[in-house]
Amino acid sequence: MSDTPVDSAKRTWLIASSCAGAIGAGFVAVPFVRSFEPSERAKAAGAPAEVDISGRKPGEKMVAERRGKPVWIVRRTPEQIAALPKNDAELADPQSKRKPDELTPAYARNEARSIKPEYLVVVGICTHLGCSPSDKFQPGPQPSLPEDWQGGFLCPCHGSTFDVAGRVFKNKPAPDNLEVPPHMYLSDNRLLIGEDKNSKA
Ligand code: FES
Repeated sequence: MSDTPVDSAKRTWLIASSCAGAIGAGFVAVPFVRSFEPSERAKAAGAPAEVDISGRKPGEKMVAERRGKPVWIVRRTPEQIAALPKNDAELADPQSKRKPDELTPAYARNEARSIKPEYLVVVGICTHLGCSPSDKFQPGPQPSLPEDWQGGFLCPCHGSTFDVAGRVFKNKPAPDNLEVPPHMYLSDNRLLIGEDKNSKA
């Protein structure tokens, strides 16, 4: 397998698309958000994307896009937030210390990997070979998951698992937690992805 970093938008989508077909029953398609600013052309060049998160119910996920990559925004339930510490002993990098500049901005280096515990914002691409993990929010035993599963994501390509903060479990092919992109809240309901207070300073 090549060591080429999985950061090419085209290659990423090729891999993610091919893996998506393997997800099978239980996968819930999430529509892409179309109401972004600025223009599609500017966005493709890497400009920040503004996303309206109003109306999201606890437990819902929406998918935005930045630089050709899917960005997941999950409004976590109080139960999901409370369950996060239960995973710590089983995680490869529970404190998000690995590659902090690449994967976890300082404001997300916490248990929930987020600015607000209620909202997870991560790039929805597996850190192994770039497949798109599927939602497995339902806790409890189920195929390909451990008996004490607390909810999270399962990568269908090689079985890597992530908790609902995007933290990878130990002894899985994926080496790292899912990437938290730079982001900031413009208001309670407006999220800017691709820029944060640090990059604005
Ligand atoms: S690409 Fe996700 S486990 Fe291999």
